[in-house]
Amino acid sequence: EPVTLRNVYKDAFYIGAALNRFQIDETDSIMAGIVGREFSSITAENEMKSMQIHPTKDTFNYEYPDKFVALGEKHNMFIHGHTLVWHSQLSPWIRNIEDSTEMAEALKSHITAVVSRYKGKIHSWDVVNEALNEDGTLRKSVFLEVMGEDYLPLAFKWTSEIDPDADLYYNDYNMANPEKRAGAIRLVKNIMDKGVKVDGIGMQGHWHLNTPSLEEIEKSIVDYASLGVKVAITELDISVLPNPRDLVGADIGQNFDNSELLNPYTKGLPDSIQVKLANRYTDIFKIFLKHKDKISRVTFWGVNDGQSWLNGFPVRGRTNHPLLFDRELKPKSAYDSIIALKQRD
Ligand code: G3I
Repeated sequence: EPVTLRNVYKDAFYIGAALNRFQIDETDSIMAGIVGREFSSITAENEMKSMQIHPTKDTFNYEYPDKFVALGEKHNMFIHGHTLVWHSQLSPWIRNIEDSTEMAEALKSHITAVVSRYKGKIHSWDVVNEALNEDGTLRKSVFLEVMGEDYLPLAFKWTSEIDPDADLYYNDYNMANPEKRAGAIRLVKNIMDKGVKVDGIGMQGHWHLNTPSLEEIEKSIVDYASLGVKVAITELDISVLPNPRDLVGADIGQNFDNSELLNPYTKGLPDSIQVKLANRYTDIFKIFLKHKDKISRVTFWGVNDGQSWLNGFPVRGRTNHPLLFDRELKPKSAYDSIIALKQRD
């Protein structure tokens, strides 16, 4: 069988990619070929977020979510739903609710409508996304302010009542940060202690060439798995730009509109950084393979550098090169390295 990420890693864990609107539409045939050949799982980068899929109380936009699910079924992929409860990109009709009962009804109606539609088709959900602060305390989102902590077990309870077969995840970033890791373990344990099903913890994996440390990444995978849940790396990309924390006061760039198929920035990446990126991905995948019994899925947050959300972030006007395929849709040395790593495994 052909040497592709999907085939080479199939006895370890799903290898996924987040897809934007163009990739869901298969606008570019070369890109569509890469997605179908290289990945065994897909996540919708934006199309299933509250603002996109359920913009007003009585309207739903299922066009792209339906296309996304159909694409996953066409390629016999593990289809992941992102995300049911998130404070960002939240529809105004939910964001402006001030009454606890009304908020519960709103969240329950959102979850009921969306999870019912894709029951049996979407295999796992990011039920709650980014509910923690960096110090491990609960983020003061509108959900916490209006409903209190109960929104967390209720979101998982409602989802599991609709689709008991889907794997339900808590998803967040900086999950290799010791304080946040402790908070995430507390959060998930509290839900499970109420007898509510949580199947997995998602570590987003928006990492950098040198941070977080390999030790903290490995410790997180082990500690999360010790709760008896699956661990997924849900949004992996390695920014070659300095860590935002090192850029205090810098002009933090805006997100790049993913519709740009060809990024106007310089195309190349110095070989020295290509090698650093390949080595960083290799080091990280060595840990994933060591703990493949704990890891259900590793999803890259995008297919190709030219459409990464990291272009222009954290510094406006700076190209980033975080993924496995370059601006010409060619596999980078990082791609070759993680394929070779598994072949040696
Ligand atoms: O679709 C509109 C387009 O019509 C309009 O012309 C354009 C104008 O700026 O905006 C487009 O929407 C943008 C959307 O991406 C699609 O390109 C939004 O402004 C922009 O905010 C949105 O950014 C996304 C961001 O989440 C916020 O939702 C990024 O693409 C996406 O990569 C990023 O992903 C998040 C995960 O969902 C959660 N974890 C963190 C991760 C990175 O922030």
